Amino acid sequence: MDKIIIATSENIKSEILIQEDLKNTFQEHLEDKKYFLITNTKLAKLYPEFIYKFSTNRVIIIKDGEKYKNIKTFEYILNQLLKEKIERKDAIIAFGGGVVGDLAGYIASSILRGVELIQFPTTLLAMCDSSIGGKTGFNTKYGKNLIGSFYCASKILIDPLLLNTLNKYELKCGMGEVLKYAFIEKSCNKTCEYNLLNFLQENQKEDVKRQMDFIIKACATLKAKVVTNDRLEGGLRKILNFGHTYAHSFETLSNYKKLSHGEAVAHGIKHASKLAVIKDIISNDYYKQIIALLEKYELIDKKIKFKKEDVVNLMLQDKKVENSKINLLLPTAPAEVGLFDNIDLPSIEASLL
Ligand SMILES: NC(=O)c1ccc[n+]([C@@H]2O[C@H](COP(=O)([O-])OP(=O)(O)OC[C@H]3O[C@@H](n4cnc5c(N)ncnc54)[C@H](O)[C@@H]3O)[C@@H](O)[C@H]2O)c1
Ligand SMILES: [Zn+2]
Repeated sequence: MDKIIIATSENIKSEILIQEDLKNTFQEHLEDKKYFLITNTKLAKLYPEFIYKFSTNRVIIIKDGEKYKNIKTFEYILNQLLKEKIERKDAIIAFGGGVVGDLAGYIASSILRGVELIQFPTTLLAMCDSSIGGKTGFNTKYGKNLIGSFYCASKILIDPLLLNTLNKYELKCGMGEVLKYAFIEKSCNKTCEYNLLNFLQENQKEDVKRQMDFIIKACATLKAKVVTNDRLEGGLRKILNFGHTYAHSFETLSNYKKLSHGEAVAHGIKHASKLAVIKDIISNDYYKQIIALLEKYELIDKKIKFKKEDVVNLMLQDKKVENSKINLLLPTAPAEVGLFDNIDLPSIEASLL
């Protein structure tokens, strides 16, 4: 069992446990209290033996999909919990990917002014990223994740075996974020103890599947480190957005259909790296290494063709824009990135070629 602790200066503590088969043994790690389970229809079908461990009236099953990460589902869950008389000493378990995790997390932060939250992530993206660090929320017609809170789970239970049922598309989505961690590792943690970049470069792609435990542990440790230092994204935590300003434009322009989030991030990393070459920040050699790794994991196979002006306009609308100047994270050296403000628009357009 691997254990990673997040302990912030405000006395917020989160414990990440990583162990195969936790879905059958998790109760050993829980206290004797009432637990309400929130999951979705797909997972309820895939893992009935897990669901049966909870009393039926404390299991809330929502519809599957990003489009249900909305206020209606939020209200539905609230009503179910209140009907079953949830109390402040009870806890909520979120069993699912980022959608279930974000929604259940927001519920836990707001119902009765906050009840304990346990994240039980089931996708690679959720295991490596979304279940850790306390960002919760849901979407509105005005945009993604516009309602939300920072609310850390007391425990994050990670069972890598749950990935056996995940399809290739969703695995790729998670791998986009995994590669992001490889490109920022040294900026998260100077010691670069996992050397994820090297690991992903050296390993056969097929082996990577068998080494998910290592990959998840590396990413979870890096996220924990960043969140411990900067829970509310005042500084360091911004590095987790590497590739994301471009990615958000690509996702919007493709209507969230053509590319998975991970693929959009990978394309974003590609263009941010190109910009770093244009600006003479990294060598052509490192740029080639970045592209080779993105290609190895088939993350930039799909060709994207958007009008440069549309991409740039959307980038200007991004949350990371301050005073109409684009702040962008660019690679500076292997496994390191830096935040550059005031990037000129012609260079950004040139990076999109
Ligand atoms: N809170 C954060 O810090 C943070 C960070 C990144 C992303 N997010 C959010 O996460 C969401 C995306 O998360 P996601 O990629 O996990 O998507 P998701 O939750 O929609 O899951 C993807 C699909 O995989 C299915 N699935 C989940 N686990 C499975 C399993 N073990 N086997 C088979 N199928 C399984 C789901 O039912 C769904 O159909 C977005 O809403 C995004 O905004 C949040
Ligand atoms: Zn992301």
